[in-house]
Amino acid sequence: MNKSAQYRKKDRKYIWHPFTQMKGWMDEDFPVIVRGSGCYLYDADGRKYLDGVSSLWCNVHGHCVKAIDDAVMAQLRKIAHSTMLGLSNAPAIGLAEKLIEIAPAGLKKVFFSDSGSESVEAALKIAYQYCRQSGGAKSRRKQYFISLKDAYHGDTLGAVSAGSIPLFHKVYGKLLFKTISAPSPHCYRCPCGKSRGKCSMECLEKFRSIIVKNKDRVAGVIMEPLVQGAAGIITHPSGFLKGVADACRENGVLLILDEVATGFGRTGRMFACGHEGVSPDILCVAKGITGGYLPLSATLTTEKIYKAFLGEYEDCRAFYHGHTFTGNPLACAAATASLKLFGKNKILRDLDGKIAYLKGALQEFYKIGIVGDVRQCGMMAGIELVRDRRTKEPFPMKDRLGHKVILEARKRGVILRPLGNVIVLMPPLSISMKELRVLVDVAFESIMKCQYCQKT
Ligand SMILES: Cc1ncc(COP(=O)(O)O)c(C=O)c1O
Repeated sequence: MNKSAQYRKKDRKYIWHPFTQMKGWMDEDFPVIVRGSGCYLYDADGRKYLDGVSSLWCNVHGHCVKAIDDAVMAQLRKIAHSTMLGLSNAPAIGLAEKLIEIAPAGLKKVFFSDSGSESVEAALKIAYQYCRQSGGAKSRRKQYFISLKDAYHGDTLGAVSAGSIPLFHKVYGKLLFKTISAPSPHCYRCPCGKSRGKCSMECLEKFRSIIVKNKDRVAGVIMEPLVQGAAGIITHPSGFLKGVADACRENGVLLILDEVATGFGRTGRMFACGHEGVSPDILCVAKGITGGYLPLSATLTTEKIYKAFLGEYEDCRAFYHGHTFTGNPLACAAATASLKLFGKNKILRDLDGKIAYLKGALQEFYKIGIVGDVRQCGMMAGIELVRDRRTKEPFPMKDRLGHKVILEARKRGVILRPLGNVIVLMPPLSISMKELRVLVDVAFESIMKCQYCQKT
């Protein structure tokens, strides 16, 4: 038995994997990763794989990057963890200052947590409590959130309440708080029955009217700006975010942007909202914040929101919320080192060429009969496979077509992770042009191979 097989045996015996049907897992020869370098992952038997999804959308500069390794090691020699409850720590302070420097205008305070879901939980609770502690009786009636259809904001219950992907969320229905759903600007399957580029953004008008109608009972709008990642890399038409932000401002509704997936360069700018000159009232970030090294997230707010929580001790206006590892020094040291690399390596500037290449290369996928739509925003791309291009009929779930494609890619040395019938490409931002070509070529070949499988 080789090393991978030995590990797999114990994995199957002890581990319950996330988002995984464990029955099928028992028959799969999944790679067991033991190390990484640059954009590559290596399994226990030395096989090398290109990390085509940035280790679930978080890796930025590659694996085992000396500057980040050194920063974490240096911090480790000082202290691995101490609490933010009653104390503070130097790396968290340094990072908070840097985050505010690069954050959209108006965001002034940083609340740390450990995962994207937790940054969303904090955001929802802050918005809700803010409405209770500012603006009088009228504001206290604001208790709902508006979120997009097919939204994904994480897996904790508040985040699930704001989400609406039936496959992930439906079963928990009775546990969740009520939210108001707004149409997603999903141009391939337009909720208003229009076709891409031939509309007046009727979806935005609908969203706006939902905000106007509910402004007195809504604590906030929460949305992923520009791209709904987990929904299948649904890219929003330009101007949609700005339109929602304007409607929020005009109607006194807080705007919470979830940049857990889109933040830290993934869309070609540091934050996706920068493309449309939008500054939210609350911003959620995670994943790429540490360069994808360690668990850390942050919820950033305006001074105005923060001030609503100030008062005498006995007023009980504080934000009674926090986690044991909040502001963990190792994670904060990694994040600070990652942010320095953005400047030093001119990451964002160098992305332009890669994004342009990806844009051209993705068009080639339309040559494959089962490709219904390709969507891209910066370094986030999704290729949707359909049974019938004309009717857009999806492949049935039991076909596991996306999964078959990624197994083909794996044989060719590339790690991908599908979202149902959508093949996602989301490499580390540091990927070279040569590696990017390999990623695209392998994705193409792997879909072709499966198209062939479907016909036979
Ligand atoms: C937009 C968005 N929000 C929140 C989350 C949840 O983040 P985490 O998995 O770190 O809890 C994700 C994860 O993919 C995400 O894409």
